[in-house]
Amino acid sequence: MKEALRSNMFLVILFLIIGIVIAVELINNKSSEKQIVVKPETPDSTWVAPSLFSDQLTQGKQREMVIYGQELITNTAKYLGPHGSVSQITNGMNCQNCHLDAGTRPWGNNYSAVYSTYPKFRARSGTIENIYKRVNDCFERSLNGKPLDTASYEMQSIYTYLKWLGQDVSKGKKPHSAGLATLAFMDRAADPQKGKIIYTNSCQSCHGQNGEGVPNPDGITFIYPPLWGDQSYNDGAGLYRITKFSSFVKSNMPFNQATHRSPKLTDEEAWDVAAFVNSQLRPHKDQSKDWVDISQKSVDEPFGPYVDGFSEAQHKYGPFKPIQGARKAKAANKNIAK
Ligand code: HEC
Ligand code: HEC
Repeated sequence: MKEALRSNMFLVILFLIIGIVIAVELINNKSSEKQIVVKPETPDSTWVAPSLFSDQLTQGKQREMVIYGQELITNTAKYLGPHGSVSQITNGMNCQNCHLDAGTRPWGNNYSAVYSTYPKFRARSGTIENIYKRVNDCFERSLNGKPLDTASYEMQSIYTYLKWLGQDVSKGKKPHSAGLATLAFMDRAADPQKGKIIYTNSCQSCHGQNGEGVPNPDGITFIYPPLWGDQSYNDGAGLYRITKFSSFVKSNMPFNQATHRSPKLTDEEAWDVAAFVNSQLRPHKDQSKDWVDISQKSVDEPFGPYVDGFSEAQHKYGPFKPIQGARKAKAANKNIAK
């Protein structure tokens, strides 16, 4: 009896010890799990575009319009290009050519800040512009085309898509990674001769020897969009200003090789290739109605008249620092005079 009790005690103690060992092991494991915290890299973007897969709240007509709006951004030429099925009002490019991944890519000229920041005052028109006006600016300049009727199903769908994309951005806010990552000014003028070498080495394989791009066999759309010539953006477009072109290209070209975090070109190369591409022939837009107040022109606005004494060439290619410096000095003098 005593014997049996002792061996029972022994078993109880044995189980207790095993129990404690397992418990300690478990606790240790848990705490070591906590220690393996992967430190996240600083995010490239504070904005994540909504997804139609997870968004099941947007339904019916609304959902139809978001999908069609996205399709119009992605495949603009199919509907509105020279052989468009809806109307023929653009040059064959797609909005997505310059607003990557249907306007959702961080630093890929995305649309995250559109719904949150429009209507807004824009100095070029000297008016408060709504989203329709801003979209039509790109139709008339970047797509060298005609404006879309605001009431059309196409414009309303683009609007619905842009609104849906920006639904989580608070009014007036601009997410980190919205639009373009602007480059610092160089001390010298951008050089088209140097840019030509960069173009030949890094761009020509896709965009063509004469910047003409590569059309799809269907003849309706492009595999690689043109950078100059008849079917490219006109000289009133945002990309015709080399600050915009260099910023876009630095973060995004060569396509799907360069990213904002790991670009393929140096800043200087991006400025120089911008100067080369924008010194080639392209469609002209009458811009005599732009800039009601010419003192508000951007430093890199390539067409005069200006209120300062700098030439059109310097406003187009730089160096921009002296222009900027003169403006600051003038503003400071004004303040003293007050
Ligand atoms: C050739 C290039 C190009 C094409 C094609 C293009 N855009 Fe743009 N778009 C730009 C540039 C450059 C800007 C100005 C970006 C900046 O100033 O930061 C811009 C700006 C915009 C903006 C304002 C963005 C903001 O945050 O203020 C909207 C909206 C827009 N585009 C819509 C469109 C639509 C819709 C299409 C197709 C119909 C289109 N774009 C086609 C180059 C292009
Ligand atoms: C691997 C092929 C490839 C290379 C190389 C490449 N691009 Fe592109 N590029 C593209 C594609 C594709 C698009 C359109 C993206 C889309 O529609 O999603 C594009 C779009 C553009 C656009 C905006 C649309 C337009 O036609 O105006 C510019 C500007 C541009 N590229 C400039 C350059 C420059 C400058 C270089 C050289 C530094 C370069 N690209 C190298 C494939 C390429």
